[in-house]
Amino acid sequence: MTVSPRALLRRVILRNFKSIGFCDVRLQPLTYIVGPNGSGKSNFLDALHLVRDALNSSLDNAMNERGGLAEIRRRSSGHPTHFGIRLEFELPDGRAGHYAFDIGALKDRGYEVLNEECALGEAGQGPRFKINRGEVKACSETTFPLVTADRLALVAASGLAAFRPVFDALASMGFYNLNPRLMRELQKPQEGRLLKPTGENIASVIGHLERVAPGQQAIVKEFLQSVVPMVQGVERKQVGPMETLEFLQEMAGARHPWRFLAQNMSDGTLRALGVLVALFQGNRDYAPTLVGIEEPETALHPAASAALRDALVRASAQTQVLVTSHSPELLSDPDLSDDALLAVSSVGGSTHIAPIDPASREAMRQHLFTAGELLRLNQLVPDPAIVSQQSARQAELFGGSEV
Ligand SMILES: Nc1ncnc2c1ncn2[C@@H]1O[C@H](COP(=O)(O)OP(=O)(O)O)[C@@H](O)[C@H]1O
Ligand SMILES: [Mg+2]
Repeated sequence: MTVSPRALLRRVILRNFKSIGFCDVRLQPLTYIVGPNGSGKSNFLDALHLVRDALNSSLDNAMNERGGLAEIRRRSSGHPTHFGIRLEFELPDGRAGHYAFDIGALKDRGYEVLNEECALGEAGQGPRFKINRGEVKACSETTFPLVTADRLALVAASGLAAFRPVFDALASMGFYNLNPRLMRELQKPQEGRLLKPTGENIASVIGHLERVAPGQQAIVKEFLQSVVPMVQGVERKQVGPMETLEFLQEMAGARHPWRFLAQNMSDGTLRALGVLVALFQGNRDYAPTLVGIEEPETALHPAASAALRDALVRASAQTQVLVTSHSPELLSDPDLSDDALLAVSSVGGSTHIAPIDPASREAMRQHLFTAGELLRLNQLVPDPAIVSQQSARQAELFGGSEV
């Protein structure tokens, strides 16, 4: 059975978000966001992560966790006072739509949601709302919950059947920056439905998969073996009131595999497991609509890159995958399509994100170079023509429903 790749987010427009003055990009079921250190790759993912956090906890929380509006909006000589995000998506039920908001500074302190807009289905026909500074300006539904300018209305609107699918899809994105130190510590047993951003509850998630989704657990195990060949398996292990991971590892001359607790496992192995669990954690209780992973190749042996790439491709059949990377090894694949790449660069502190330039595309299409080789040669850069075209005619955050 072949499953066609799934994509939730089709297009992302950002304005004045951290180092990104403006960006307008299309995403694939599997997209590699590639560029040097400090170019703005994490900032791009963080804009999506902020949407997820604001929907799951509150806008206030999501902003505070990031140091407040002053840290989030772009610092530049133009002194922008607000930032904005527009996400164009396709829901699991096939309907297309968009969700957008912008946030500005209040005179004394704090911030307010200036505009917020959601539209689904055919232009002007499907569910939609439009809010300006806490006032509902347009709405497809006969009633709408009370809105205030310090919160995202989509949270309240998720109580209405019409908007629930949008909320569910955007709130079910997962973002990962795995931290082996936290994965190694004894962990408090939790529900484990969903892997947390640094992998700090991975033992619970493995335990949950063992109980409710042995098939997914088997996929994790299979890929773990191909990424880290010595490792034969991994299980959740109870230690007093706490829990951790126990790895089964092949040992020359030993009849049975040796057992190692997470504490004694390498950074690379723990990170690889975290990446795989992030990718394949979907189960009957919870399935992420999109998984964003920061630099999945970190601490891995270059030889493991092909196996890691296979895992990314396999996962993207079920859930959209976004990956940040500056690893030539990860991108050294003649089958990697140039459409799957977004190049990121920083020019004078300002981030540009766009498809790669036509000469590099052509080189890849003719199999003269892999993306990895181009990256090594510093030839994987955003197409300057697209960048200047986009910044000259900046697409609107609001209105329209073309996806
Ligand atoms: N509010 C902001 N305004 C302008 N630049 C910012 C802002 N916040 C962070 N940056 C810049 O973003 C850069 C880091 O971007 P990041 O996305 O972490 O890079 P990477 O590509 O390594 O993931 C830093 O150079 C930092 O100065
Ligand atoms: Mg980064």
